[in-house]
Formats: sequence, C-alpha cells, structure tokens
Amino acid sequence: IDDDSKKVVAEIMARCFVPSLITTTSWEGFHFVGHEIRITEAMDSYGAVVWPSALVLCYFLETNVKHYNMVDKNVIEIGAGTGLVSIVASLLGAHVTATDLPELLGNLQYNISRNTKMKCKHLPQVKELSWGVALDENFPRSSNNFDYILAADVVYAHPFLEELLITFDHLCKETTVILWVMKFRLEKENKFVDRFKELFDLEEISSFPSLNIKLYKAVKKSRRSARKGKVVSRRVFL
Ligand SMILES: C[S@@+](CC[C@H](N)C(=O)[O-])C[C@H]1O[C@@H](n2cnc3c(N)ncnc32)[C@H](O)[C@@H]1O
Repeated sequence: IDDDSKKVVAEIMARCFVPSLITTTSWEGFHFVGHEIRITEAMDSYGAVVWPSALVLCYFLETNVKHYNMVDKNVIEIGAGTGLVSIVASLLGAHVTATDLPELLGNLQYNISRNTKMKCKHLPQVKELSWGVALDENFPRSSNNFDYILAADVVYAHPFLEELLITFDHLCKETTVILWVMKFRLEKENKFVDRFKELFDLEEISSFPSLNIKLYKAVKKSRRSARKGKVVSRRVFL
C-alpha cells in the first residue's frame, strides 16, 4: 500500500509547476481538470501558501468524479487559504462558497476570479467565515444546504479547534458529506480526530503515510441513528 500511495503522492506533487519566466506577480502553477491554475501566494500567514493537503483533495476530486460528482452541487470550503480546492471544485461544476478569515479574502478572491472567470458553470463566491464566529448570522442553519463541506489542513496548533468542530457541526446537515484532509503533526492536535468522531461518522478514504496525510469522509452521526430508527419502526410496522 505504501508503494502505491508513494506513486500517487508523486503524481499529486507533479501537478505543480513554476513559471519559466520571471514576471512581476509571482505565482505557482498547478494542473487539474484540464486547466492550468495559477495561484498567487502571500507570505504573511498560514493560509497564504498551498499546502500538500490541498493537492491531495484536488487530486481526489478530479479522480473520483464518478462517486463524488460536483456538478451543480452546493459546496462550501472552510479554511480555503489560497483557494486551489475551491477552484478545482468550481471547475468540476460545483456551486462553491470559499471561506476563510477576513485578512485572507483579498488574495483568495483574486485567485478564484483569475482561475474561474468564463471557465465555470457557477461563479464561486468568497465569504468570511471565522470558525465559531457569528455562524447564526452569516450562515443561518435554515438556509445552509451544503452537499459537501471541503476542508484541507485545518487542524494544526491554533487555538480554535473547538470552534472548528462547532463550525463543521453548524454547516453540516444530515445529507451533507464532509471531505476532510488531515495532516498529522503533533499529538495534541491529532486528538482532534477523536473529538470529531463524537459528532460524525468518520471513514478513512485514503492515506498517504509519506506525507502524514489522511483523507476522510464524514457524515453527521444522527444520520445513521435515524436510519437505524427507520428500520426498527418498519420492522415493528411489518
Ligand atoms: C494550513 S492552512 C490551509 C490552507 C488551505 N486549505 C490549503 O490546504 O492550502 C489553514 C487555513 O485555515 C485558516 N484558518 C485558521 N484559523 C482559522 C479560523 N479561526 N477561522 C477560519 N479560518 C481559519 C487559515 O487562514 C488558513 O487558510
């Protein structure tokens, strides 16, 4: 398995290229969904560079369109950073809302506009979402209707892990599928996975040991219990 995952990692990493000419604005290039995607990075924060987890998620979306078809799906990305994942989901036909902290939104909007204009079925939206903050006002539960929540490398040594969990829970309906790429680093943050499992049914879809990265699919716990409940009541009824 490790050899297979190494091959996939090599393929994922080969999606990046650097411009052959020095230009006035610096950018990094990626190939996904038949498009050349140019990402401008800023050097002042975590969200300003493309992290390997984002590449893993883009690769997954591109190579699993049969099972995870994005066309016309309502998708939100949290901690979108430079926007690569949101761009790929948009190029695949989804209706995307890319979110992050306020200070990231300028660069995020720039990258998204530059790479999706005239190329996507639905124009992606960029919106502020600081984890755990004003969720009811900005993302009222009654109007949240996301088919997918995407998240790449949102767990690391920051003080908002509980708020992150609250955010996942707030955005997630019974039918929502979370695709979350987790980079394992320190013991303390890695425990987030156990906290997460208290609220969501978690399935490991793929693992890249050489990168310490796992890709998870998750759904709200109540969904399974609800289904169980239905079966029980049908049995009783029969
Ligand atoms: C390690 S970066 C990953 C960025 C991008 N998903 C990627 O994989 O390239 C973590 C992202 O989470 C965002 N983030 C961190 N704390 C946050 C918070 N409290 N609320 C919202 N976003 C936050 C950062 O701004 C950053 O974009």
